[in-house]
Amino acid sequence: MLNGKRILLIISGGIAAYKTLELIRRLGERGVGVRTILTKSGAQFVTPLSVAALSGERAYQDLFSLTDESEMGHIRLSREADLVVVAPATANIMAKAAAGIADDLATTALLATDKPVLMAPAMNLQMWAHEATQRNATRLVDDGVLMVGPEAGDLACGEIGSGRMAEPATILARISELLAPAGTPLAGRRALITSGPTREPIDPVRYISNHSSGKQGHAVAGALAALGAAATLVTGPSAEADPAGVEVVRVETARQMLDACQAALPVDIAVCAAAVADWRIAAPASGKMKKDGAGPPELSFVENPDILATIAGLAEQRPALVVGFAAETENVVENALAKCRRKGCDWLVANDVSSQSGTFGGEHNTVHLIEGDASEAWPKLSKQAVAERLGRRIADHFAG
Ligand code: PMT
Repeated sequence: MLNGKRILLIISGGIAAYKTLELIRRLGERGVGVRTILTKSGAQFVTPLSVAALSGERAYQDLFSLTDESEMGHIRLSREADLVVVAPATANIMAKAAAGIADDLATTALLATDKPVLMAPAMNLQMWAHEATQRNATRLVDDGVLMVGPEAGDLACGEIGSGRMAEPATILARISELLAPAGTPLAGRRALITSGPTREPIDPVRYISNHSSGKQGHAVAGALAALGAAATLVTGPSAEADPAGVEVVRVETARQMLDACQAALPVDIAVCAAAVADWRIAAPASGKMKKDGAGPPELSFVENPDILATIAGLAEQRPALVVGFAAETENVVENALAKCRRKGCDWLVANDVSSQSGTFGGEHNTVHLIEGDASEAWPKLSKQAVAERLGRRIADHFAG
């Protein structure tokens, strides 16, 4: 868990600086205190105001500002953090850091720090491939600087190749790995969890939904975060509190849930515990439907996308482990085995949701864990205990 950790984030001047705002937001959601230094050219790409608004603290900019030095000396600034992150790291700041140049607040902090430094290079592909930059990168790594990325892909300059800054989620996973306390076996892993019901509109005031409370899915997200995973929870409407250290994305409909899940990719682990509506109304009314004496309205349905099957069937970004849940009212294990195969997931947690089970909305769950053709019966447990046991199984899977 990253809660309570502190990061000094140096934002240098590259177009990828806008992605750093997303990184600040995600770190904040995980309880990380983020102090920022904005270089002169970094401030050409993102404003001190937007950085300060997201981090909750002023963005430090000037080495010689009396205010900066009286409020927070550069030595303190560089040492109070658990980790210094440079994102984006331009060819220029890498060159200066490799040479030990300290001619502004950012480079002075880099030289003064006694904490680990993580750089996320971002630049044009020729600049990244240039001998000078490669020499500087090697020198920095030899000096103990850690690197994340760059990645290959479309670059802001219109060219395609290596030089794109690692995505905020990738940088976050690397930060989690570096700051992970002992006993966090999923540190550095990214997890996506769905939870709760979806609501499919009939008209602006009515909807179709189900009894899912979100208790089970939220508990899974919290358990994976406690094991060190960078967890994103995509949840339908739920009264459950946000689990600690988890990024929470709230949605209403199945299609919104799919979009949010796709936006969270790539991840290592996907656990789909949401009770997604299988169907939605084909054409929800734009105004409130009225009782006009002509009898009840005829509602026609269309099928919703299957989020679990979509994620499990991805060609390129399929998570290494895809876990579904199966809500069954009869023949729980037989139906779940068939569902696991049909949806293409690796594991399936099957639970009885018949009305006498009390599973929907209740505090307890009695599940079978399906892995391939094997099924394992777990005793009746609290939903929290089911989540913790599943989390440990996932951690063992990645450890083995
Ligand atoms: O929220 P609680 O009150 O704590 O209750 C927990 C729970 C009963 C909702 C949970 O334990 C559970 O069983 N979740 C899955 C509910 C469900 O929709 O099951 P299903 O058998 O209909 O679907 C199988 C799998 O496909 C599930 O992983 C589901 O998330 C997924 N699915 C289903 C339909 C769809 N359109 N997209 C999906 O991703």
